[in-house]
Amino acid sequence: VRYFVPADTTAIAVGADDVAQALAAALETRGEYGRIVRNGSRGAFWLEPLLEIEQHGRRVGFGPLSAAEVDAIVALPPEAREQHPLFLGDVEALPWFAAQRRLTFARAGLGDPLSLDDYLLRRGFDALERALEMAPEEIVQAIDDSGLRGRGGAAFPAGIKWRTVMDTPAGQKYIVCNADEGDSGTFADRLLLEADPYQLLEGMAIAGLAVGADTGYIYLRSEYPRAREVLRVALAKAEAAGYLGSNLAGSQRSFRIHLRIGAGAYICGEETALLESLEGRRGMVRAKPPLPAHQGLFGRPTLVHNVLTLAAATTVIADGAQAYAALGEGRSRGTLSVQLAGNVRRGGLVEVPFGVTLRQLLEDFGGGTRSGRPLRAVQAGGPLGAYLPESLWDTPLDYEALAAVGGMLGHGGLVLFDDSVDMARQARFAMAFCTEESCGKCTPCRIGAVRGTELLDRVIAREAPHSELALLEELCDTMEQASLCAMGGMTPAPVRSALAHFPEDFA
Ligand code: NAI
Ligand code: SF4
Repeated sequence: VRYFVPADTTAIAVGADDVAQALAAALETRGEYGRIVRNGSRGAFWLEPLLEIEQHGRRVGFGPLSAAEVDAIVALPPEAREQHPLFLGDVEALPWFAAQRRLTFARAGLGDPLSLDDYLLRRGFDALERALEMAPEEIVQAIDDSGLRGRGGAAFPAGIKWRTVMDTPAGQKYIVCNADEGDSGTFADRLLLEADPYQLLEGMAIAGLAVGADTGYIYLRSEYPRAREVLRVALAKAEAAGYLGSNLAGSQRSFRIHLRIGAGAYICGEETALLESLEGRRGMVRAKPPLPAHQGLFGRPTLVHNVLTLAAATTVIADGAQAYAALGEGRSRGTLSVQLAGNVRRGGLVEVPFGVTLRQLLEDFGGGTRSGRPLRAVQAGGPLGAYLPESLWDTPLDYEALAAVGGMLGHGGLVLFDDSVDMARQARFAMAFCTEESCGKCTPCRIGAVRGTELLDRVIAREAPHSELALLEELCDTMEQASLCAMGGMTPAPVRSALAHFPEDFA
């Protein structure tokens, strides 16, 4: 019998360690043989802590459960398990799972994230083996043909970026993985790092083969201590087993990865600030051009990608570009890992092909609000994304379709709010967030956000005449048009959307 209790950040936060301890104690007291596997989470956070029992070729789940409930479940004979009120059956057969199309997260939660055997059993390093037999041009062409776009948020075509780095002559090039996942309501990078870390390492090695880089860096945010530990062990094990380092997977090629930890600044998720930080300086945004693809880390051509983009490269190479490109809608190909957060009943990670509507995600997957009150607004794309009212929830998940209604998909975070939300306060939050996180390099962002917060404070306190809202509009224009990077440039988006769609909260 194998018992699975996730050991990822979210599961532990809601008591998975207590469940694992109670399980060990229950097995010992009963003198029963059973192996406890601390797997990664499947991303169904609404079911955590989740316990799965695998016996006689069947794997069934119970959850969300507390440590106090474990002993009674262990005591049940297999044929009586179905009677238990927390019995879920085969977790993957739940409609929430069955309606997803998991590619990047196909392995998440199935086994021990650090077991190389588990990874190899589930097609791990297949893509790397294939890539080693391909010419760099072929790998880049496959990425291009797949239609994969940057999953960090900007959705720039990955193929163009890979080709730019490949074609830029230099003795030394780098792959940099941006794991500084700072958007509120997002956790897909963390889940992948904690549930399937080898996939990222494999994706980085493939990228290295393609563009001619033998060194990679992972820039991980300091707020992810568990991911840091998993990555540290994964890097050591992959290197010891020959999947990283010199003689990469038995070839004459070489690829090494270094792990670096951030210090808690949101702006270090912006690629040039990240590179500054990696080089040992304060995380300040650099003007582009030069693009990192031409002159990035230590002035060398650098491929900077989010965790999910590099991970998706393994699917593209293993399954072929056509299979990946066959999914999706318009120019948005493949799948997106949507993170449902905030006031949501079934929170967690949902991987679906582009094209499903926001409403399907909010209602069918999310199940509405956790409070049970009517859903009023959803913020898509992180703290700098727009607030979308119900009239826009039939918009399909597609970068261009969402942009056409003034929204953005960003890193795929959806934060839900019920009807008790005060949208004027949410608008203020955007400005206050920018005040806190601005790198300070340019005036519209550094000073504009402070003035914007003050303006909104006056609007909220009803001290400002309504005409002050016109001043706010003007300030938003300046920030949008004159800021050096997306931090200042996108802060007006949540403010403007709140004003446009929820004017009653500013009356
Ligand atoms: P961007 O559009 O300037 O660049 C996107 C990427 O494409 C960059 O890596 C850039 O170097 C590259 N690029 C652009 N033109 C290129 C060319 N001709 N050749 C090769 N490469 C080229 O966007 P930026 O400022 O990098 O990112 C903004 C986005 O970041 C926002 O849309 C937001 O969604 C997202 N974001 C994500 C966060 C997260 O936690 N994941 C946090 C904050 C923002
Ligand atoms: Fe720095 Fe803000 Fe200017 Fe970006 S917009 S460079 S974060 S001051």
